[in-house]
Amino acid sequence: MPGDAAAQVPRHIAIVMDGNGRWARKRHRPRSFGHNAGRKAVREVIEACLREGVQVLTLFAFSSENWQRPQDEVGALMGLFVRALDKEVDELHSHGVRLRFIGDLAAFDQPLRERMQAAMTHTADNATLHVNIAVSYGGRWDIVQASRQAAAAVARGELRAEDISEASLGQWMSLADLPPLDLFIRTGGECRVSNFLLWQIAYAELYFTDTLWPDFDQASLRQAIEDYARRERRYGRTGEQIANPS
Ligand code: IPE
Ligand code: IPE
Ligand code: MG
Repeated sequence: MPGDAAAQVPRHIAIVMDGNGRWARKRHRPRSFGHNAGRKAVREVIEACLREGVQVLTLFAFSSENWQRPQDEVGALMGLFVRALDKEVDELHSHGVRLRFIGDLAAFDQPLRERMQAAMTHTADNATLHVNIAVSYGGRWDIVQASRQAAAAVARGELRAEDISEASLGQWMSLADLPPLDLFIRTGGECRVSNFLLWQIAYAELYFTDTLWPDFDQASLRQAIEDYARRERRYGRTGEQIANPS
């Protein structure tokens, strides 16, 4: 609603954090240098979300397709996740951040899985800002795992196949318990979704910027939120209907 201040701050922002490799290449450094530099941008957006009153921030850190990258890059990313978890969780906790990891977590080795689980448990009672980290995540994987749960419910006799609906299937999608996605941001100049939140993106506003992820900061997020505030979300209705709700 134009003029409604609360409606102008998205409740749920998702970001495809892209461009680390190109950022490093410009500096004649290895790609892992760019991934490390991206940590600062993560801190910046979390701070900005806390300040702006955003309720949910979902970050794409590693896709189901990223396993296909060279072994040394995958290894460097895993090392980075471990270091980030060891270093940042206490501070996030002190700011009231609730951490959640979404994706095929079974694909990770035991020590990393344990760290992710410990971080989720440690911050489980926080509610100021939900930060979801998508790792080994794919939007198609998400739809498949939700379908599998629906099929299991049918097999147990708890759900009839003809009662599978958007609402009943949707309850098994990742993040179903959180406010719907309002604003989808991708840095790094590519205008594609790359198998991020396919189900959840249905009525999100999309925002693409050429800024490479390590350069993305609080001002960059403010700019995206300002752009979002100028959009009219019609959900299939007409502009007149939105202006004069009956
Ligand atoms: C995004 O940056 C981080 C991950 C995919 C893990 P990239 O590594 O894709 O950086 P570019 O797109 O090659 O610049
Ligand atoms: C998407 O970026 C995944 C993450 C940012 C984690 P990619 O760099 O992997 O996407 P493509 O390959 O350009 O589509
Ligand atoms: Mg990329």
